[in-house]
Amino acid sequence: MTMAPTLYAQRRACLLEQMCCGIAVIPTAEEVARNGDTHYAYRHDSSFYYLTGFAEPEAVLVLIAGAAPQAILFCREKNLEREIWDGYRVGPEAAQQQFGFDAAYPIAQLDEKLTELMANQPVLFCPLGADAAWDQRLLRLRTAVQAKVRSGIRAPDEIRDMRALLHEMRLLKDAAELDIMRRAAANSAQAHRRAKQFTRTGLFEYQVEAELLHEFCRHGARHAAYPSIVAGGAHACVLHYVDNHARLNGGELLLIDAGCEVEGYAADITRTFPVNGKFSAAQKEVYEIVLAAQAAAIAAARPGNTWDAPHDAALRILAQGFIDLKLCRGSVDSVLESESYKRFYMHRTGHWLGMDVHDAGDYKVGDQWRKLQPGMVFTVEPGCYIRPADDVPQALWNIGIRIEDDVVITAQGSEVLTAAAPKTVAEIEELMRT
Ligand code: GLY
Ligand code: MN
Ligand code: MN
Repeated sequence: MTMAPTLYAQRRACLLEQMCCGIAVIPTAEEVARNGDTHYAYRHDSSFYYLTGFAEPEAVLVLIAGAAPQAILFCREKNLEREIWDGYRVGPEAAQQQFGFDAAYPIAQLDEKLTELMANQPVLFCPLGADAAWDQRLLRLRTAVQAKVRSGIRAPDEIRDMRALLHEMRLLKDAAELDIMRRAAANSAQAHRRAKQFTRTGLFEYQVEAELLHEFCRHGARHAAYPSIVAGGAHACVLHYVDNHARLNGGELLLIDAGCEVEGYAADITRTFPVNGKFSAAQKEVYEIVLAAQAAAIAAARPGNTWDAPHDAALRILAQGFIDLKLCRGSVDSVLESESYKRFYMHRTGHWLGMDVHDAGDYKVGDQWRKLQPGMVFTVEPGCYIRPADDVPQALWNIGIRIEDDVVITAQGSEVLTAAAPKTVAEIEELMRT
């Protein structure tokens, strides 16, 4: 638990109020085997953790709405043998007290208790469709409750996906969440500084990755928020390049997209810089266009603007830049209209950021782009990816650039959480000289 237990209790109360009536079943993530006797690093389910602060596997939150709302946790029992081998378990008794649940039971009792708790509830809320095995299990339990109809017991008539309710809550970050996200951003920015200072011609991409991971871990962030992209030269034009195995050549750019996870919250930063510390004229020309596009997008990130305003602002600058570079022909409007820019900029300019790197929340309300509000956090990440082709000036071949920052909307405009990672040409060249 990284925040005060009352904060999680408030979130549960808020969800219970929106449910009005019925029962909600919210499981955490499963442990996943990697190979023999080895598991992938365990990561709780974000929504489950948002409501509980409980980080152990094999746990389920049950909420019962109505006049006397209840929050019940199912978790692993204390077990000396398992704790000797695998480590500490909170256990139901301590979990109830420390985390402020109305009740807590051993996870082994889940099915039996759920058939009791589901009885006479009109609605069953769950993350419907998120995990087929869970959907099946809940349907089976509902059928078991239906079998008791002759004793006057009714099973929930309705099954509702509750993720939309939860995702709306997660979209607006509170002060405690922003505090953690500032730390994730600062730690990640520091790792990007370290990577720039370390990079030299002839090193391998994975050696730079090691510096990033070292800096994350050194400050207590044990995990990257997503697999780090350390892409030299042409690899920067592969959007999700994660091989990170190639040697770095002088005269090429290095694109690094990496961020750490701190107390369950992600940072997501991309920086692009010359391997040898000095931009060539062609690299600088493209870089300045992407940087200007990013500045325009960040300026458009303010309350009252819609979600697509930063993307549109970036696109106009990129379209003009692509015309100037002779990558696209026509006017800015015709390049936007024909979408010919998509050959060199094929992704959108950002996504919500929070517990998940691509965080929860809809981008449209009905068929309208959502209005930006204080507390929304998202990335601003324009780029330009130029693959070799006969109709492309050769000096630009294999230049791949993305510049990505994390931004929170404030009452006045926005705050760039990742500003400590240098990004102007002068700042980058200065840092790499030292
Ligand atoms: N690092 C993932 C992304 O930028 O969306
Ligand atoms: Mn991103
Ligand atoms: Mn990224």
